[in-house]
Amino acid sequence: MKLTKHAAIGIDFGTTNSSVALVRPSGEVELTAFPFMGALTDSYRSLLYLEQVKEFGRDTLKSWTGPAGIERYLSAENKGRLIQSLKSFLSSRSLKATEVFGRRRTLEELIARILADLRLAAEQQFGIAIDSAVVGRPVRFVSAESEDDNRYAESRLKDAFHVAGFKTVAFEMEPVAAAYYYESTLSHDELILIGDFGGGTSDFSLIHVGPAIRKRGRKPKDLLGNSGVGIAGDAFDAKIVRRLVSPVLGAGTNIRSIDKILPAPIWVYAKVEKWHHLSFLRTKETMNMLRTVEAQSLEPKKIAALIHLITEDLGYQLHRSVQSVKCALSANDAANFHFSDGTIDLESNVERTAFESWIAEELSQISACVDGLLKTCSIQPTQVDKVFLTGGSSFVPAVRRIFESRFGADRIRTGNEFTSVARGLALKANDTAS
Ligand SMILES: Nc1ncnc2c1ncn2[C@@H]1O[C@H](COP(=O)(O)OP(=O)(O)OP(=O)(O)O)[C@@H](O)[C@H]1O
Ligand SMILES: [Mg+2]
Repeated sequence: MKLTKHAAIGIDFGTTNSSVALVRPSGEVELTAFPFMGALTDSYRSLLYLEQVKEFGRDTLKSWTGPAGIERYLSAENKGRLIQSLKSFLSSRSLKATEVFGRRRTLEELIARILADLRLAAEQQFGIAIDSAVVGRPVRFVSAESEDDNRYAESRLKDAFHVAGFKTVAFEMEPVAAAYYYESTLSHDELILIGDFGGGTSDFSLIHVGPAIRKRGRKPKDLLGNSGVGIAGDAFDAKIVRRLVSPVLGAGTNIRSIDKILPAPIWVYAKVEKWHHLSFLRTKETMNMLRTVEAQSLEPKKIAALIHLITEDLGYQLHRSVQSVKCALSANDAANFHFSDGTIDLESNVERTAFESWIAEELSQISACVDGLLKTCSIQPTQVDKVFLTGGSSFVPAVRRIFESRFGADRIRTGNEFTSVARGLALKANDTAS
């Protein structure tokens, strides 16, 4: 395989989905296509599945990522460990490593497993060896409270790329990358506001783009500013789980401890709501604690359902049910929620207005982030030529309304929701190389 030092590769390692793009010498952008369930997809689920298997009479830790991880997980009789939204741990100083079937794995190693498979698939499709890439990062990583936290998260992401065999990694803000993609569709210059709503983060950039700007060369002053908040699709999902699922798993119920009535442990339900925490609940200590809670519970069947969810590692199925109702609510005024496994059997009709009231707090934090950016940059909404909304969570009508109310529907542009960032990263890699 030929090693092209300056291959224009862009990699968007997303909280939920990842994409890889290459700019061909013709200028055409090509996405890596991944096989899934007999078809091809250009967005690769950023998940990792680990199983302990017997090989030559010895216990060996094996792992699969993306579509292969999903397929292996679904067909496994004894479920291993399926981990989602790993990117959301990057700023967390308390999660350095985790024990998987008695073996210690650092967060960087777990993420690198996904990156290595992305790299391999891209190498095979593009026919080149890849050891450098322009990589996206959110303006503010999930749970980052300071610039120091962001630097820490970015350096861990870089380390993960190194573990996956990359030698050179250059970062670009994800909304800026989306702006470069949007720019490639323009025939004139514009001042644009980008809103990129993913699984973990919502990111914004105010930036001048267009053919004349590219021709004269970009200047730092073209980028008026970035802002971001660690709230997006996963935070919306958390509210769906809180409202529809956790009560059936015993949230808000009581236990009798000797002569006291106490609530079932709240922290467990906080973790059940978060995709990146759910599969980490399956530890000996937590399971022992939950069995004690079940024995003392006033509603033990609900705690038994919680134990079932954790021991069977049902995060993937739960995510699928939540994702399905959320997507249906983007298109319809009401939708059906369905989740069943073992003794858990949930069915309910959800109105879009109810969902919007559940995520009202998240929506107002997102709005405040947009308004804050405009204010810091001293830009009035009337000065913005177009608003480009991208990322899977930009399909949520209440998210769009934030922009429609400030800028009017006619200035809003959308498109390539799942691949605009990877495309823009590749375009940047191409500009840097030429
Ligand atoms: N039609 C839809 N309606 C509402 N939400 C949707 C829809 N389609 C996808 N999503 C949500 O979009 C999110 C994934 O979007 P995307 O792939 O852009 O995120 P990501 O790039 O992986 O995350 P991040 O950029 O935060 O790292 C998920 O939360 C998913 O549930
Ligand atoms: Mg994204």
